[in-house]
Amino acid sequence: MSEYIISGGRPLVGQVTVDGAKNSVLPILCACLLCDDGQVTLTNCPHITDVQYTLEILKLFGCETSFEDGQIHVDAQNVSFREIPCDLVSRMRSAALFLGAAIGRFCMAAQCRPGGCELGSRPIDLHLSSFVKMGLSVSDTGNVVECSGCAHGTDIFLRYPSVGTTENIMLAACRGRGIVTVTNAAREPEIEDLQNFINAMGGKICGAGSGIIIIEGVEKLHGVNYNIIGDRIEAATYLAAAIATDGEITVKGVCPSHLMAVTDLIVNSGGSVCRKNDSITVSRAGQFILSPGRIETSPYPGFPTDAQSIIMAMLLRAAGTTQIHEGVFDDRLRVSSEFIKMGADITVSGRTAYVHGTERLYGARVFAGDLRSGAALVIAALSAQGESVVKNISHIERGYNGFDKKLKSLGAEIIKLKD
Ligand code: UD1
Repeated sequence: MSEYIISGGRPLVGQVTVDGAKNSVLPILCACLLCDDGQVTLTNCPHITDVQYTLEILKLFGCETSFEDGQIHVDAQNVSFREIPCDLVSRMRSAALFLGAAIGRFCMAAQCRPGGCELGSRPIDLHLSSFVKMGLSVSDTGNVVECSGCAHGTDIFLRYPSVGTTENIMLAACRGRGIVTVTNAAREPEIEDLQNFINAMGGKICGAGSGIIIIEGVEKLHGVNYNIIGDRIEAATYLAAAIATDGEITVKGVCPSHLMAVTDLIVNSGGSVCRKNDSITVSRAGQFILSPGRIETSPYPGFPTDAQSIIMAMLLRAAGTTQIHEGVFDDRLRVSSEFIKMGADITVSGRTAYVHGTERLYGARVFAGDLRSGAALVIAALSAQGESVVKNISHIERGYNGFDKKLKSLGAEIIKLKD
């Protein structure tokens, strides 16, 4: 099991550039399966394990792929239908999106249920009921899901603006028959990126970002060169680490408007924030981090659940008590017990954590339970006194490219020990 050894207490200072967004590149790679005329080239792709897993699934369908220097080529001209085996699907949640992509390409799909981070129950009922609404027949044995039929025009109202469901509908319908209108669609920037990519291949989708998405099926999609947007959660990670360590950093390669909920919170916590076209600079304005009071995670443009543990790490030494309510997933506060090993004072009640700021954190041996809480433990370790060991960093590597190297370039003392 690989681990990071971190000597805390050094302020992070300097500039860092984020990679392309994990949550954009994964659905966009699934959408590559829909391209039957020519090759797709994607730039600004992060070298993370979830991308490698997704490429493996594309290869299973017969796609030719290559990945070098942040550039991915996918040729899906000679693909054929396959059932995706459990070992490939169980590694990540986004594998559920191959259902929509396979429906769009083959008018059928079959795979195990997806895996991904343990954040509580993660059903796919909204995905499947949307497929049924589009005229597909769906069988779900609880382990394997099978869908058959081509997507037909319809109106879908989502009782919750689920990111994956919205993406799956777009993937299934963009080469379907007729027009699908989705109301209460997810509005995340990654949804807009998927829309822009499909449209660049010749698709007809509009409305992403507004909550109502209209998808008109087209006969064919063609090859294209496309640049993935910057990762707003990776950016949030470095911003929080800078405030937690009393540093000053500029994060480049990100769209500041995608991070308004996070930067607003940093200002309310006593940070100073300067936004430019594609960069954000933060530093601590006063001597202390201040509690911003209450935070509640919710779908975009609300405070992102993926930044919840990262911001909790930033607030462990804040003056005052912060109430953090997890409004998206039902079991996403488990990292609290690892923070407590470092001297944090946290009580958890249901989906709410009460973080009472302490003066100091101390180095400890802690265990990354999932991707973002793993990154959050690294932030806490960077702001703690003494040495910490963050174990099980394979979770972190699912979503961060060269995390230790980027932090080192900002002055962190961090060593990666491979198993
Ligand atoms: C995506 C992101 C993940 C992020 C999440 C919320 C990817 C690869 N992952 O995950 O990083 O944390 O959005 O911003 O993009 N739900 C149902 N039934 C369904 C689908 C979802 O009840 O059929 C519930 C989930 O259990 C959860 C909530 O809806 O409580 C949000 O899930 P969703 O928006 O679908 O997130 P993901 O697409 O899984």
